[in-house]
Amino acid sequence: MAASMGGSRLVLLCLVFPVVLLAGAAHGHPWGAGLFPQFYDHSCPQAEEIVRSVVAQAVARETRMAASLLRLLFHDCFVQGCDASLLLDNSSSIVSEKGSNTNSNSARGFEVIDEIKVALETACPGTVSCADVLALAARDSTVLVGGPYWDVPLGRRDSLGASIQGSNNDIPAPNNTLPTIITKFKRQGLDVADVVALSGAHTIGLSRCTSFRQRLYNQSGNGMADATLDASYASHLRQGCPSSGGDDNLFPLDFESPARFDNFYFNNLLVGKGLLSSDEVLMTRSPETAALVKAYADDVNLFFQHFAQSMVKMGNISPLTGAQGEIRKNCRRLNGNHY
Ligand code: HEM
Ligand SMILES: *[C@@H]1O[C@H](CO)[C@@H](O)[C@H](O)[C@H]1NC(C)=O
Ligand SMILES: *[C@@H]1O[C@H](CO)[C@@H](O)[C@H](O)[C@H]1NC(C)=O
Ligand SMILES: *[C@@H]1O[C@H](CO)[C@@H](O)[C@H](O)[C@H]1NC(C)=O
Repeated sequence: MAASMGGSRLVLLCLVFPVVLLAGAAHGHPWGAGLFPQFYDHSCPQAEEIVRSVVAQAVARETRMAASLLRLLFHDCFVQGCDASLLLDNSSSIVSEKGSNTNSNSARGFEVIDEIKVALETACPGTVSCADVLALAARDSTVLVGGPYWDVPLGRRDSLGASIQGSNNDIPAPNNTLPTIITKFKRQGLDVADVVALSGAHTIGLSRCTSFRQRLYNQSGNGMADATLDASYASHLRQGCPSSGGDDNLFPLDFESPARFDNFYFNNLLVGKGLLSSDEVLMTRSPETAALVKAYADDVNLFFQHFAQSMVKMGNISPLTGAQGEIRKNCRRLNGNHY
C-alpha cells in the first residue's frame, strides 16, 4: 500500500551518477526538482518523528485538524510553488496570503505548524524548512485518519515573499467550471488524473455554507438549485445553509465519513451527493474524469495509490533549493524581519 518514492537505490545512484540523476529530474521523475526523502538523515535525523508526533497530538485533540493541515499544502504549492509563502503573516514587506479570498476565514492549522517548528528549532536549529514541515504534516495527517503513506521528498527552502494575487487567481474556486479547474492544475504541471485523485482529499474535512450556497438556490442565475445535486440531499443542506446568513455554518465534504480517509467521497459523486460544485462536475462534465471517479469508487487501493503519487507530484511544484530562499526560524516571518 505504501507508494515508495526514492529509497536506498536512489541514494546510491545519487552518489555514483549525479549527472544521470539530474537529467532524470529534468524529465519529471517523481523525486525531481532536487528533493529526496533522506535530506535530513544527517542534519536532523529526528525531524520526521518530531513532525509526526506533534501532528498526532493535534489530530487527537481535534480530528478535523488532519483535513486542515492537508489543505495547507495545496494552498501553499499552488502559489509560487511549495515554499511556505502561505505561512507568512502581514508585515511591512509582506501582504499575507492568509487574507486571500480562498484562505480568509477558512485556512486553518497555522498554530500547529508553529508548534512543530518550535520543536524542530529546539532539536535542530535553523535546519528544517517550513515548506518541508507542510509537506510532512500533510502526509502524516493523511495516514493518521486512515489514508495512504508515501515517502516525502525533502529539501525545500522557504520563500522571501508571498503573493496574495497568486492565492486569489491560481487556487481553484468551488464554483469554477471543470475546464477552469483543469487549466489551473495544468499551470502547475498537474494533469486531469491528478485533479481527480487530489480532489479525493475532500473525503475528509468541512466546508462553510458560503462555499456551496449558490448550488442550493441559484446555480445558473435562474433561481433554481443545481440539477446535478440530489434533491433530498439539497433540501437537507438548505436547512443549515439559508439563502442569506449562516455563511460560516459547517458541513462535511463527505457526509458519509467526514473523519475517515476512504473512497466514500467518490461514491457520493456517483449519486449526486458531492458537496461542492467543483466536486460534482468531476462526475457530470467529462467522461474522462467520470471514469476516474468510478474507478476510485470501485477500488480504494487504486485511489490510495494514485493519491499518494499525485501528492508527491503536487509537493514537487517549483521548490526553492540550494542557496535559494532561507530556512525560516519562525514560519510566520522572514529571518531578517523582526517587526
Ligand atoms: C479541485 C479544486 C479544489 C477546490 C475548488 C477546492 C475547494 C475547497 C473548498 C471551497 C473548501 C471549503 C472551504 C471553506 O468553506 O472554508 C475546501 C476544503 C478542503 N479542501 Fe479543497 N478544493 C480543491 C482541491 C483540493 C485539494 C487538491 C486538496 C488537497 C490535496 C484539498 C483539500 C481540502 C481539505 C482537506 C478541505 C477541508 C479543510 C478543513 O476541514 O479545514 N482540496 N476545498
Ligand atoms: C493584511 O493586511 C491587509 C491590508 O494591508 C488586510 O486587508 C488583510 O486583511 C491583512 N491580512 C491578514 C491575514 O490579517
Ligand atoms: C462564484 O462565486 C463568487 C463568490 O461567491 C461570485 O462572486 C461569482 O459570481 C461566482 N461565479 C459564477 C460563475 O457563478
Ligand atoms: C439569481 O441570479 C441572477 C443572476 O445573478 C439574479 O439576477 C437573480 O436575481 C437571482 N435570483 C434569486 C432568486 O436570487
